[in-house]
Amino acid sequence: MGDTLASQSIIEVDKLSKRFGDKAAVDEVSFEMRRGEVFGFLGPNGAGKTTTIKMLTTLLPPTSGSARVVGRDLRTEGKKIRERIGVVQQQDSFDQGLNVETSMDIYGLIWDVPKRDRRRRIDEVVKRFGMKDFLKMPTIDLSSGQRRRLQVAREFLHDMDLLFLDEPTVGLDPLVRRGILDYFKEKVKEGLSIFFTTHILEEAEYLCDRIAVINQGKIVQVDTPENLKRRFGRAKAVEFKLLEGTSRELFERLSSSDEVSKLIQDEVGGTYRVTTSRPEIVIPEIYKLAEKYGLSVSSIYIAETTLEDAFINLVTVDDVRRPDSS
Ligand SMILES: Nc1ncnc2c1ncn2[C@@H]1O[C@H](COP(=O)(O)OP(=O)(O)O)[C@@H](O)[C@H]1O
Ligand SMILES: [Mg+2]
Repeated sequence: MGDTLASQSIIEVDKLSKRFGDKAAVDEVSFEMRRGEVFGFLGPNGAGKTTTIKMLTTLLPPTSGSARVVGRDLRTEGKKIRERIGVVQQQDSFDQGLNVETSMDIYGLIWDVPKRDRRRRIDEVVKRFGMKDFLKMPTIDLSSGQRRRLQVAREFLHDMDLLFLDEPTVGLDPLVRRGILDYFKEKVKEGLSIFFTTHILEEAEYLCDRIAVINQGKIVQVDTPENLKRRFGRAKAVEFKLLEGTSRELFERLSSSDEVSKLIQDEVGGTYRVTTSRPEIVIPEIYKLAEKYGLSVSSIYIAETTLEDAFINLVTVDDVRRPDSS
């Protein structure tokens, strides 16, 4: 896209903090989000995700630190920022008297979207978000999942460079959720950048190019989902089967190996499951033992670490390695 170096970041945050009384809800957070990226902000309840979004979208003034959003200074160019971003807040706010369609149309009108474009975009989101059934319903009668869809959908009525989503899929069933995530992906291909908070790990993994893990107001890691899993997902599983079915000798020897934290054999299929942080050591060991006892390994594979495992390790271990010291 012929970008200059400076414009490759869509968000640059430098030691941004927000204090409420004694408590630092966001504590000297620094990170950079690239243009065209889906950047995930992943953290447990109370980690500081919403407070960060509120600051970056100019809804809440920072206590200290600075940030540039869509190339503009957060402190002095709030209006310019608001013109180029969309926000789906954690809490919704609609005019309760209107029906869904009118509510969307008025939202587009507020953004100065011409009538013809509003019509086209409303048709698109109604179709993609499965909103046909409640289009004529007053917003006050919507279920929480329907409200959430309306809130996300209306943000796509206007143009923007950057969309902030604060736990957008809460209360949605899996099918609708997947449809919406895929819609986000399409928009990213068309050039949208997305800042996305969630505590749902599968979702972060499905959507995000990079993920910042935030805990107690501090960013503990920023990396791709793959790398987070590789670096912090400790428990891995190696599963294998023996042609001969069961071998007690092999079971006992493998159980006592230093690198094996747990070994079980499933009664039905005869599959052995080894929990280990070092599959690269355990796998050759399995082959060696099999050879020693005259057995053959008929299948073997490494079960993938889950992002959840990496996440739990990251937010429960105090002395996690910081990005600059690892
Ligand atoms: N207006 C406020 N006044 C006092 N404390 C707040 C306020 N908003 C948030 N907090 C506190 O700041 C911390 C971070 O909150 P929040 O950003 O909402 O977390 P998250 O969105 O990650 O769940 C929490 O401990 C929360 O209780
Ligand atoms: Mg929140």
